[in-house]
Amino acid sequence: MDPDREVSRELLLEVLADAHAAPTHGLTQPWRFHVFTDAARARLGDALQEIYDCLTPESARKADKRVKLGATPRLSPVVIAVAARVVPGGKIPEVEEVIATACAAQNLMLSAHGRGLGSYWSTPPVTLTTEFATWLGLDETHRTLGLLYLGYPLPGVTPPPSPRNPLEQHVVFRAE
Ligand SMILES: Cc1cc2nc3c(=O)[nH]c(=O)nc-3n(C[C@H](O)[C@H](O)[C@H](O)COP(=O)(O)O)c2cc1C
Repeated sequence: MDPDREVSRELLLEVLADAHAAPTHGLTQPWRFHVFTDAARARLGDALQEIYDCLTPESARKADKRVKLGATPRLSPVVIAVAARVVPGGKIPEVEEVIATACAAQNLMLSAHGRGLGSYWSTPPVTLTTEFATWLGLDETHRTLGLLYLGYPLPGVTPPPSPRNPLEQHVVFRAE
């Protein structure tokens, strides 16, 4: 992605509106999106490194992993932290709120692709922790589900192949 090619606020609002049209059981609309652009991406990268340091015993820390956590958010013009609101003991079980939020995330990525943007979903373990939720300002009723990276593809870069197994390995038709 081209880290220096800005994605307009108008376009971001369009893709977020498409995300917001996702299916939702009980109309709970559990998805939450925290959108990082400009200098906020660096603050996000720094926070991910700090959380990694806090949660990883010194003997287990990997320098390359730590560097990547800090650097990757700076490589895309837009990084979106995704979270699901889950009410413990509520009418809608946690798994359904996570599924609905994943539907919203996929809507967002499809909408972004339709508008010429590239995207990918990334879930380094620190992004799935309560510490990251707290850093985002979310309380214990939220589950963070990783980061969506968005941006215009760099000119001349061909997207990598997207291999999938033969479809029939994943589908069963039953007529009776
Ligand atoms: C929930 C979820 C989490 C993912 N986490 C990662 C990740 O942490 N690192 C990674 O390289 N790809 C991750 N991926 C895969 C990428 O988002 C992307 O699908 C992959 O690079 C393949 O690209 P393609 O979908 O265009 O084939 C994740 C995908 C999903 C759905």
